[in-house]
Amino acid sequence: MSENKENIYVCRCEEITVADIERAIEAGATTLTAIKVRTNAGMGVCQGMTCRKNIERMLRERKVDPGCIKHSPYRFPVRSVSVADLAADAPKKEVEDHE
Ligand code: FES
Repeated sequence: MSENKENIYVCRCEEITVADIERAIEAGATTLTAIKVRTNAGMGVCQGMTCRKNIERMLRERKVDPGCIKHSPYRFPVRSVSVADLAADAPKKEVEDHE
């Protein structure tokens, strides 16, 4: 079973496995934020929308005090924006002031 834990991804964005999360918990991480800091789980493109509930479930299964399972704030996924798009949305007055 322990072999599978190295191959089961909890956080697909950052490629964090069940074994990675378990090691973080065994090392003393008992909050979502602590697990995030130790493993980068929840810091991928989806910003934890997919993996957060799985990590919370893992903490509950290990009888971590429910008061310690605090929700860290969701962050919206970041998308790149071209300079041309930014310039197109810039108020005209600001563009004129810099010319
Ligand atoms: S699955 Fe964890 S950040 Fe996307």
